Amino acid sequence: MASISWQAVTRLLLAAAGCLASLEVVPGATWTATNTGSHVQAHGAGIVKESGTFYMIGEDKTLGSAFQNINCYSSTNLVEWTFENALLTRQSEGDLGPDRVVERPKVLYNEATSTYVMYLHIDDSNYGEAKVGVATSDTVCGDYTYLGSYRPLGFESRDIGLFKDDDGTAYLLTEDRPNGLRIDALSDDYLNTTENVYTWEENIESPTIWKTNGYYFMFGSQLTGWNPNDNLYSYAESLAGPWSAWAEFADDGSNTYHSQVSFVLPWGDSSAIYMGDRWQPSNLMRSTYVWLPLELEGSSVWLTNRGRWVPDVESRRWGVGPTETQYEGEDATLSNGAAAVGCSGCSGGLAAGYLGGGGAGRMELGVRSEETTKTTVRFRYTNGDTSERYGLVTVNGVEHEVAFLPTQNGQTPGSAVLHCDLAAGDGNTVVVETLDGGYAADIDQVIVPEK
Ligand SMILES: *[C@@H]1O[C@H](CO)[C@@H](O)[C@H](O)[C@H]1NC(C)=O
Repeated sequence: MASISWQAVTRLLLAAAGCLASLEVVPGATWTATNTGSHVQAHGAGIVKESGTFYMIGEDKTLGSAFQNINCYSSTNLVEWTFENALLTRQSEGDLGPDRVVERPKVLYNEATSTYVMYLHIDDSNYGEAKVGVATSDTVCGDYTYLGSYRPLGFESRDIGLFKDDDGTAYLLTEDRPNGLRIDALSDDYLNTTENVYTWEENIESPTIWKTNGYYFMFGSQLTGWNPNDNLYSYAESLAGPWSAWAEFADDGSNTYHSQVSFVLPWGDSSAIYMGDRWQPSNLMRSTYVWLPLELEGSSVWLTNRGRWVPDVESRRWGVGPTETQYEGEDATLSNGAAAVGCSGCSGGLAAGYLGGGGAGRMELGVRSEETTKTTVRFRYTNGDTSERYGLVTVNGVEHEVAFLPTQNGQTPGSAVLHCDLAAGDGNTVVVETLDGGYAADIDQVIVPEK
């Protein structure tokens, strides 16, 4: 298959590029924002690209399902994300008031009006209003002015997406429960819907379109609430159809690798990046991002599950990442009360525990790298609490804040990533301590790329 040679080519290109592109996307991990010290809160997100910067705009779920903020983060490499602004925030009343549903923000730039236009799903807590909201701003991550809400063409609308075609015309993708999934054309200023272009009778939610190679690909999920399902796609040569039958694009029964599509980011002509949410309904703030390369052959798209991969922004390709060395937390030098603790799901049944806390427990580990490079180190950890824990992780004297989302329990590890500089040789030191006086996570393993 073409994808195999693409991967081989990409590996060579990335190797030739040396340390330029080695940072990894780790699906399902805690992604600590560069400037908040906390997990990125931009769920149900879309991406706007502008002047070499990616802006990720999504929902803040820190306090649960009810609306708090629409957040924007920026990145130039798709891996390290910096909080920019809360574009909309909770108001005392109205559509953006307490206990409101404000979901799936999507933003398009309107050239004619030089305005960024945001659409949102607007609802009451029982999902009875079923409307879209519209907000605008002069800058992609500036404060947005909320204009109000309506039912597109009079029909119910819950999950939404937006699509801008090559000629600048834009479309609202909207889940209309009584009638099915709709594509509605937007007015020239993008502020209103003008006509229906196509309606599937199937109920598909969280819609998003990728246009490439002469086809429009529509992606969406089935309706299973917060629980994941085998997501589907349909394709056509025209938005008005005829559209193909819906088909799966990930391993059958994997529930799209336990995720729900939110956005598809074009990444070269024959690949894209699938961006999904791994919702955690019992504690939505610990929902993570499942981003994976989506491969195209003709009119078929396919998503392969990967624990990690390397996006190369310059070449618009991707690679699989270097081989790694796994270091056991319990084998590190543990001091100040830090000690090996039992953990049934951990490698060897043990983790490094009591890091931080009253005794200021400390873990120190020597790690090897073949090259002097900035790389992605992964921590396999447990945090049995219901809120984030934080670690001060010092690598070769450079301090980093790393957040650790709650894991399923104290026995089943999750992953957290740290992007840091390593030097060639055995002399790298990684120290994990408390950041805030509380305990950091229990560390099962520290996983370090060989180069
Ligand atoms: C939006 O379009 C509908 C018809 O499609 C119209 O009834 C409505 O008044 C328009 N809204 C605004 C604010 O122009």
